[in-house]
Amino acid sequence: MTPPPSRSPRRTLTRALTVAAAVTLVSGLGVVAATQANAAAGCRVAYSANSWSTGFTGNVTVTNLGDPITNGWTVAWAFAGNQTVTQGWNATITQSAKNVTAVSPTYANSLATNASATFGFNANYSGTNTNPTAFTLNGVACTGSTGPTTPPSSPSTPPSSPSTPPSSPPTSQPPAGAKVDNPYAGVAGYKNPEWQAKANAEPGGSRVANNPTAVWLDRIAAIEGTDGSSSNGSMGVRDHLDAALAQGAGYIQFVIYNLPGRDCAALASNGELGPNDLPRYKSEYIDPIAAIQADPKYAALRIINIVEIDSLPNLVTNTSGNAGGTAACDTMKANGGYVQGVGYALNKLGAIGNVYNYVDAAHHGWIGWDSNFLPTANILLQAAQASGSVNNVTGFIVNTANYSALKEQYFGIGTSVNGTSVRQSTWVDWNQYVDELTFAQSFRNQLVAVGFNSNIGMLIDTSRNGWGGSGRPTAASTSTDVNTFVNQSRIDRRIHAGNWCNQSGAGLGERPRANPETGIDAYVWVKPPGESDGSSSLIPNDEGKGFDRMCDPTYTGNARNGNSLSGALPNAPISGAWFSAQFQQLMANAYPAL
Ligand code: BGC
Repeated sequence: MTPPPSRSPRRTLTRALTVAAAVTLVSGLGVVAATQANAAAGCRVAYSANSWSTGFTGNVTVTNLGDPITNGWTVAWAFAGNQTVTQGWNATITQSAKNVTAVSPTYANSLATNASATFGFNANYSGTNTNPTAFTLNGVACTGSTGPTTPPSSPSTPPSSPSTPPSSPPTSQPPAGAKVDNPYAGVAGYKNPEWQAKANAEPGGSRVANNPTAVWLDRIAAIEGTDGSSSNGSMGVRDHLDAALAQGAGYIQFVIYNLPGRDCAALASNGELGPNDLPRYKSEYIDPIAAIQADPKYAALRIINIVEIDSLPNLVTNTSGNAGGTAACDTMKANGGYVQGVGYALNKLGAIGNVYNYVDAAHHGWIGWDSNFLPTANILLQAAQASGSVNNVTGFIVNTANYSALKEQYFGIGTSVNGTSVRQSTWVDWNQYVDELTFAQSFRNQLVAVGFNSNIGMLIDTSRNGWGGSGRPTAASTSTDVNTFVNQSRIDRRIHAGNWCNQSGAGLGERPRANPETGIDAYVWVKPPGESDGSSSLIPNDEGKGFDRMCDPTYTGNARNGNSLSGALPNAPISGAWFSAQFQQLMANAYPAL
């Protein structure tokens, strides 16, 4: 779980994103050479740019108004100025002088009549960033109509639905007004009796067993419930929902966690579905979960889904070209399995009136660098657009199953030591954030800036980021050396912020509660305390879980953790299985203390 970051710490691309008005354009190219097929050809393009002083993110939605396209589409335009595309997604984008072409990805190369495709790119420019106004689709000018036989009724009328997202997968949208803004507010959370029993069986465990924790649906068999052989639980989705009703709970939390090619940057939580199993993910996993969650019997519960931990951020930072990038992440980026899978889950589950989706957004020690921050927001938007609407997303979760401190109370990102910024310390390593709260609040703003609803809320998993006990500093260091200062002052006692498996010294963090800070819907315990992050040696199992050396205390690391020791506890069982020593340590080092 929770693969470490790969980052380019020394890139200092400005994050001062000014949100330019999204401009929707209908091409002014009114003249299309009449050919025999011309009546069927037509298209509409919506183009928008979020610009800052030297660069911008472009978003393009093309709608096919003509015959179905089945073997690939190409959208082309010319920039007016010196705009230069540096990176694209959802299409292969190339540029020759001012001329740009965007070619459909192989996994999405058809475009039905009235269907849309959205792609995006980052670009540099200087001077004025003028939006292009003329586009072609497969060589035919996009006039907003089907060509000269049916001229646009009014060339200056914008398309009726300018930001219409991809039409696939097409299902109904949630009933308007049915959802509350913050599903955690004002109601009690569901206490998973299976986790409670394990916690209560530990000496001292009854002090924490009454907290709500999430139910992980980490395989198809978890939907119906298993025979008890799985590493963490045998109750199925209906069993949990029935138990929630019996408890009088107001909300219940599930983790949707079974993407094809799961955990592409690590091995500890590889899953049962192969990289090309997107059809099975949809029909055997998401559809049955959606069918149960939609049962009117459960309509009074607020059903919260935490959607696909680590997946989309892995496509940004852990593909080849990044330090430590993997071929498995390249595959999942190229075949669209993560983006389309998350999009499908958001669509199906978001369509249910009492269901709330929070998408995983990594943590500050992963995407807190400028080079990862905006691209991650953009790929999250891409998945939401693939779902049909950003309305399918209630918010995002950070720090899932991770150990980053909530608040570094003895220094902030603006602290300098003897004239040297803490950003230059080995620990901070040029990150823009030193803790999860400041990161979550800032990333929320970025997500709104790229197009998510302004009322989205963040969750922070505080299940193991407490860092109390005797190792916790009690005052800021007085050292004038920046590294000594940061190392003596920091709450987070990990060897390296890229370490993620069963961390030695960690404690329980804030207890779950709603509305703790501005922009934060809740502190939550999504990773149930006491459940392992991964085995510290190879343990054969039938769950697809591999052995990741980041869980081995003797491992001396890799590019993603600065070639440091893993900091993992010894003798850990496979991910999800009960790990008594970890649970005892988390209680002993709880902050606030138990
Ligand atoms: C594991 C899952 C487990 C979850 C909660 C993940 O790391 O891969 O199987 O359900 O943690 O413990």
